[in-house]
Amino acid sequence: MSAPTYLLGLDISTTGAKALLIDAAGAVLGSATSPLTLSTPRPLWAEQSPADWWSGMAASIRRLLAEQAVPGAAIAAIGLTGQMHGLVLLDASGAVLRPAILWNDQRTGPQCDEMRRRLGRARLIQLTGNDALPGFTAPKVLWVQQHEPELYARVRHLLLPKDYIRYRLTGDYAMDKADGAGTILFDLRARTWSPEVLEALEIPAAWLPPTFEGPAVAGVVSAAAAAETGLAAGTPVVGGGGDQAAQAVGVGAVEPGIVALTLGTSGVVFAATPSALIEPEGRLHAFCHALPDRWHFMGVMLSAAGSLQWYRDSLAPELSFDDLLAEAAGVSPGSEGLLFLPYLSGERTPHPDPLARGAWVGLTLRHGRSHLTRALLEGVAFGLKDSFTLIQGAGLGSIGQVRASGGGVRSALWRQILADVLGVELALVNTTEGAAYGAALLAAVGAGCYPSVEQACQAVIQITGGATPDPVAAARYAALYPRYQALYPALRDEFRAIAQVEA
Ligand code: XUL
Repeated sequence: MSAPTYLLGLDISTTGAKALLIDAAGAVLGSATSPLTLSTPRPLWAEQSPADWWSGMAASIRRLLAEQAVPGAAIAAIGLTGQMHGLVLLDASGAVLRPAILWNDQRTGPQCDEMRRRLGRARLIQLTGNDALPGFTAPKVLWVQQHEPELYARVRHLLLPKDYIRYRLTGDYAMDKADGAGTILFDLRARTWSPEVLEALEIPAAWLPPTFEGPAVAGVVSAAAAAETGLAAGTPVVGGGGDQAAQAVGVGAVEPGIVALTLGTSGVVFAATPSALIEPEGRLHAFCHALPDRWHFMGVMLSAAGSLQWYRDSLAPELSFDDLLAEAAGVSPGSEGLLFLPYLSGERTPHPDPLARGAWVGLTLRHGRSHLTRALLEGVAFGLKDSFTLIQGAGLGSIGQVRASGGGVRSALWRQILADVLGVELALVNTTEGAAYGAALLAAVGAGCYPSVEQACQAVIQITGGATPDPVAAARYAALYPRYQALYPALRDEFRAIAQVEA
């Protein structure tokens, strides 16, 4: 009997460095995660140390291999994924020049305006598929150019978080095309760096690494990394993908018609597209997918299950999530006219506004904690409906299936609210390890276990359950949704005024 083939998926998220081990049939054998902390040295800033990413990831790999008693030499290939858009700057010797500026950092509003001025907003959207948003990488580069010129003069390499892990693992500067597109320094159609954007922003092309398709082998584990991790030198490392593209691979959203809805800290509605489609106003993100000849649309809300986490931690720390949600299940759909705006860390889709804030609107003496909780679950669902509606209207043809995943959909109540608010049936899948699982599947394709990413997904992903809309609740939510939609425009100027008073 031949020795079993194992694949490793490595996910450098904002909260942890996770290593996941699967076998060639897609079965999960185990995982290990080292927690990571976030630094917010100033309001709107979010940074992390790349050195912490690597030490956390090396520790997770060592622990996982030891716990599973799997020798490094049994790993056929490694796939990388991680938080998108984070800016990592290295000098000529490969040393990190400053803390990474992360996807949820909101400091670069002025640099986004500057990008639109230099390129023209319409041209920027035509080239990159996207408007300039503070979360993306390009405006972060401009910020360092303008605020830290001495440090900027020493920059020689620009990487994203998972590609810093790749650099430490292989010694190579490389990136995948899905994450490359998320920098918005990319020509979406050509699937490579855009000379026009780089020139307009005065960023040397030599700083940018070669880019690879998600399942393509992009390098091998170095002897130094093998000694640190227990992996075998020479193990292939594939391109991989940013966390949203890898998450979509992990639930099988790789073909047009299957939409992935992720209810994690952030909330994402993701649809694969057969060509480089663009939403002309740039309201949806349009990036390369983590497989060849595929692109995707994506709507991102910044505080989805993160809103519930904040609420529990700040207002009901003594209660478990289960107890909080059980109370909310006793309230009727619509929370007796109480609405929640989930913009706790500003918003991206459909209101790209770093100054947007959260709110409960419509409180009366009849409302108690159970109503506040239910309104929060419903507000997050309405926010996801905003993105879903944009994707429905984006000319992709009919949506055959919506696959829901992420920590939030473990709650039967939240799943039902989502089905009722969206007015569509939700499907759950057997693969629940998120982006790390998608990265491991990309590695499986790179190792030759499957001929294509689509075939890998078909072989390992099954539907395990779901939620069907209840017509009465769905009608109630359909009546409330316009009221929810009216709240942000009504409050937008006040959010700005509050920020000025605070400043
Ligand atoms: C996607 C995005 C987030 C991060 C979270 O555009 O910014 O989903 O990738 O890790």
